[in-house]
Amino acid sequence: MQHIIVTGGAGFIGSNFVHYVINHHPDVKVTVLDKLTYAGNRANLAGLPENRCELIVGDIADAELVDKIVKDADAVVHYAAESHNDNSLKDPYPFVHTNLIGTYTLIEACRKYDVRFHHVSTDEVYGDLPLREDLPGHGEGEGEKFTDKTPYNPSSPYSSTKAGSDLLVKAWVRSFGLKATLSNCSNNYGPYQHIEKFIPRQITNILSGIKPKLYGQGKNVRDWIHTEDHSSAVWTILTKGKIGETYLIGADGEEDNKTVIELILELMGQPKDAYEHVNDRAGHDLRYAIDASKLRDELGWTPQFTDFRAGLEDTISWYRENQEWWQGQKEEVEANYAKNGQ
Ligand code: NAD
Ligand code: DAU
Repeated sequence: MQHIIVTGGAGFIGSNFVHYVINHHPDVKVTVLDKLTYAGNRANLAGLPENRCELIVGDIADAELVDKIVKDADAVVHYAAESHNDNSLKDPYPFVHTNLIGTYTLIEACRKYDVRFHHVSTDEVYGDLPLREDLPGHGEGEGEKFTDKTPYNPSSPYSSTKAGSDLLVKAWVRSFGLKATLSNCSNNYGPYQHIEKFIPRQITNILSGIKPKLYGQGKNVRDWIHTEDHSSAVWTILTKGKIGETYLIGADGEEDNKTVIELILELMGQPKDAYEHVNDRAGHDLRYAIDASKLRDELGWTPQFTDFRAGLEDTISWYRENQEWWQGQKEEVEANYAKNGQ
């Protein structure tokens, strides 16, 4: 694999993957295709060698552009998406455009030129799970985490358009022989995450003198993984995965939101109760949890950044030291949340 296209490579997780590939695989060149929406940022690609990484600003749903660049590539790794649940509840159309039409446009081009495709998706396509405390044996039994056999049951416009995009890819594999793999990952955290998302929102709230905001009672559980581990998993699947297969990516990082907000406050030297409860999200998924044993056992992947407290400390330091990266968007993000009582 000498030349790959990374869609959404100027976003949070896509840019981490681009850095990962440039740093670990010196023979590979990367073309980033990114529309630079509010969530994309050229600065996320700063410092990468120009002869190995090119940014093309464009829409993945632009069939002419996609056709032109896909034909010269060995693989497309598809991260581009509208990615935030709260935005999808206010205005679903961009999610339909990018997540469905965009994915369709990319797989049509990959089919035409017989180019390898990797589809980056989310655990949210499976809906949600009961809280461990409500399960017999506290959720240690079979069927109490998501696997690639869990039926699809998405809740929001975001997760339903991601589910639809997964199904398109699966159908293109079966009907047209598309050389594709899929991955469904749990909640990522780390530097460069947009400040609309839970963890960076709370860190930048505290740095801005605003109280952190917890939806509802904060019982909802997310299965946190450091974005560096997501990148190594995607590279493993791209290079060793079996065509047509889905791999779930997770690092056994279940935490409820109240615990996370209290940990952020503690690590930032604030009283643990210095946050406020705000309106809950409509249709708010209760719990996500990933069984990643297929990826671990069949492809030999192991996460490296599993100390959540240490990862959060590093992430907090990054937002503290890179205020120019996020400050320009803070006021607008908070004003939009305030309109919803959040
Ligand atoms: P993000 O919102 O930070 O970045 C998305 C990127 O896609 C941005 O750079 C944006 O400019 C680009 N983009 C959006 N629409 C586009 C279009 N029409 N054409 C070209 N580029 C476009 O998202 P993220 O959190 O980095 O997520 C990346 C991918 O990983 C998504 O597919 C998401 O569903 C998936 N995922 C995210 C998480 C998570 O915790 N954030 C977990 C699992 C899976
Ligand atoms: O599970 C993978 C998914 O994780 C990805 O597919 C999505 O792209 C990504 O955004 C993320 O979705 P969530 O909805 O879980 O992430 P978010 O950061 O928006 O919220 C995490 C949890 O925190 C969720 O239960 C809602 C809650 N929350 C969120 C915000 C922004 C709060 O309590 N307060 C907040 O201010």
